[in-house]
Amino acid sequence: MAIPLAGLAGCGVQSPLAPAGEQARGIASLFWLMIGVCGLMYLLVLVFLSLGLWRSWRRGRQNAEPAVMPADRGLNRTLLVWVVLVVIGLTVLITASFLVDRGIGQARARKALEVRVTGHQWWWRIQYRDPGTGAWIETANELHLPVGQTTRVTLASADVVHSFWVPNVAQKLDVVPGLRNVVDLTPIRIGWFRGQCAEFCGVQHAHMAFDVKIESKAAFDRWLGNQAKPAAPAGDETAARGLRILSAGSCGSCHTIRGTTAVGKAGPDLTHFATRRSIAAGTLPMSRGAVQGWIVQPQAIKPGTMMPPTPLAPADADAVSRYLTGLQ
Ligand code: CUA
Repeated sequence: MAIPLAGLAGCGVQSPLAPAGEQARGIASLFWLMIGVCGLMYLLVLVFLSLGLWRSWRRGRQNAEPAVMPADRGLNRTLLVWVVLVVIGLTVLITASFLVDRGIGQARARKALEVRVTGHQWWWRIQYRDPGTGAWIETANELHLPVGQTTRVTLASADVVHSFWVPNVAQKLDVVPGLRNVVDLTPIRIGWFRGQCAEFCGVQHAHMAFDVKIESKAAFDRWLGNQAKPAAPAGDETAARGLRILSAGSCGSCHTIRGTTAVGKAGPDLTHFATRRSIAAGTLPMSRGAVQGWIVQPQAIKPGTMMPPTPLAPADADAVSRYLTGLQ
């Protein structure tokens, strides 16, 4: 049963502080160290400030003369201690930042699984290099990662600047037209997570999410093997009618369903559409109802999306959704 992504967003599946990747773990420990060092300094400042205010208030009550700042050795010593504390604190932070940064960079030297991610307004094209044949296997809006192995993601943009971010796994990186940016992801924990475009890229920027599944190497290999195959044949008469409607209509000019006449490149590859757990870049859960609504009225769900409305009769929309949700 698919769960709407929005309902999961607050439960640690999109949090850099619940690390599921080597890179995010380094960043999270750096974050806590910074909070600790800066929090301690802040506390010390507040304590001394309160002490000073309290002493001045007490002198006021006793009608004492305002204290004349004596150039005493005590004050000089305190100042010196304070400067030393600040220098130590900053040195700790600089050293830790350097070490975490270097740790993240070291993943680049490893042998890695190659993935290409292309940002589109507003969805993600995802291509895996088949380690066996070297061919590129295409999917969309759902990233699968084998645990304990580095995946090297090369980022490209088809239109405007996006930003690729899986907070639980690694740092974010801009997706810039005309540039190839590279980020390494080394997952350490199995589970479902959520990635999100982190750079404003138009009216549906918030609906540019993707599911991330971290799984065992064996499960990942099974998944990739299945993604490499052509589309499953229609499972029943309704689905077969759905495929005929889809082939006769304009769907195939934007979408590819490998093994059929649909070979369009503008939109997401739908060959194994039903293996994903959400549609329209994390906007709706994968279900027949959601798929029908999306086909008929995409502009009502995601205003501004490139997907045009397809005014199908209810029975036809039902048949198409039957076919699409059978594409395992
Ligand atoms: Cu793509 Cu924001």
